[in-house]
Amino acid sequence: MKSYKIAVIPGDGAGPEMVREGVKVLEAAARKFGFKLEFTAFDYGGDRYLRTGEVLPEGAIEGLKQFQAIFLGAIGHPGVKPGILEKGILLKMRFELDQYINLRPVKLYAGVETPLKDKGPDDIDFVVVRENTEGLYTGSGGFLKKGTPHEIAVQESINTRMGVERCLRYAFQYCRERSRKKTLTLCGKTNVLTYAFDLWERAFHEVGAEYPDINREYAHVDAICMWMVKNPEQFDVIVTDNMFGDIITDLGAMIQGGMGIAAGGNINPGGTSMFEPIGGSAPKYTGKNIINPLASICAGSMMLKHLGEEEASAVMEKAVMAVCAHNIKSLSAGRMGYSTSEVGDLVVSCL
Ligand code: IPM
Ligand code: MN
Repeated sequence: MKSYKIAVIPGDGAGPEMVREGVKVLEAAARKFGFKLEFTAFDYGGDRYLRTGEVLPEGAIEGLKQFQAIFLGAIGHPGVKPGILEKGILLKMRFELDQYINLRPVKLYAGVETPLKDKGPDDIDFVVVRENTEGLYTGSGGFLKKGTPHEIAVQESINTRMGVERCLRYAFQYCRERSRKKTLTLCGKTNVLTYAFDLWERAFHEVGAEYPDINREYAHVDAICMWMVKNPEQFDVIVTDNMFGDIITDLGAMIQGGMGIAAGGNINPGGTSMFEPIGGSAPKYTGKNIINPLASICAGSMMLKHLGEEEASAVMEKAVMAVCAHNIKSLSAGRMGYSTSEVGDLVVSCL
C-alpha cells in the first residue's frame, strides 16, 4: 500500500479545530482509495513561543524536509506582537523550504453565497499563482535614525530573474494543464514600479514565447481588483508577485464565499510543500467548535492532488461541493447550521 509521511502543524487559535476535521476527511479518503497517510504533529505556534521563547526549534526545518507534505492550520496569536510568529514560523517555512509558489484557487461552489450580484459558479473560477519567496517579503531594508524626526524606513522589493522566471514558468505550465481559457494574466504595476515589473513583464513575454498555446494578458493590480469584482469570468490564471498576490487573494477569498472555504498550497515542485487555509487563526472562535473547517478540508484535497492522489483529491472536493450545495447554510463561523466537527462528518459521509 502506498504511504505518505505528512507533518501536521495545527498552530494557533482555531487552527487545531480546522486541522482536526481536515485530517478526519483525509483519513477517510485514504481508507476509501487504499493508501496510507502517516501524520506526525508539531506544536509550532504562539503557545509554544510563549512557553519556550522559541519560534522554530533548532533543526525544525531539516526535520520538515523529511516529510512529503505539511498540513498547516494557522499561525497568529493575539498574545504575541505581530510579525514574530509570521516571520519566525510561516514565512520561515515558505522561504527555507523554498516553496516558491503560493497557489490559490478562487472557485465559487454551487450553493455558496457570493457578494457579487448576478455572478455564479460559472463566473468565478480562476487561480492565482503568487510568487512566494521574494518581493517585499524578504525583509530587505531597515531603519535609519529610528525614533527621531529624521527617521527613515526602507522596505525593498527583491525580484530576481531566476525567481520571477520559475514562478512564471510554473504559471504557464499550470495554465496549460488546467486547460480552461488558456489565458495567463500578469498582475503588476508597470506604470509606477518601473523596475520590478519591467523585469516581470520582459520575463513574462520571453517565457511566454515557449507557450504559444497560452494567451498572455496584462493588468495593473488596481485594475485587477476592479475586474475581479466586475467581470471575474474573464480570468483563468493570474500570476503576480508576493505582495500583490497576498492582497488580491483576500479579495478572491471573499468572492468565492469567504475565508471559510479559501485554501492554498505553498509549493516547492521539487521539495516539501505545505497546504493551509488562507484565513488566519481566528482567535475569537477558538475552542467553540463553530469555525468552518471546509478551507482546511479543501487544503487537504489540494495536498492529495499534489501527492499524485488525483482521484481521491477530486472526490474530496466533490464531497465539499455536495456539503455546500445541500447542507451548510452559510460559510461563516457560527452560522453554518452545524458545528465544526459535524461539518467534517458531513464531508466524510459524502465521500
Ligand atoms: C497569507 C497571510 C500571510 C502573508 C501573513 C500571515 C504573513 O496573510 O498567507 O496570505 O502575508 O503571506
Ligand atoms: Mn494574506
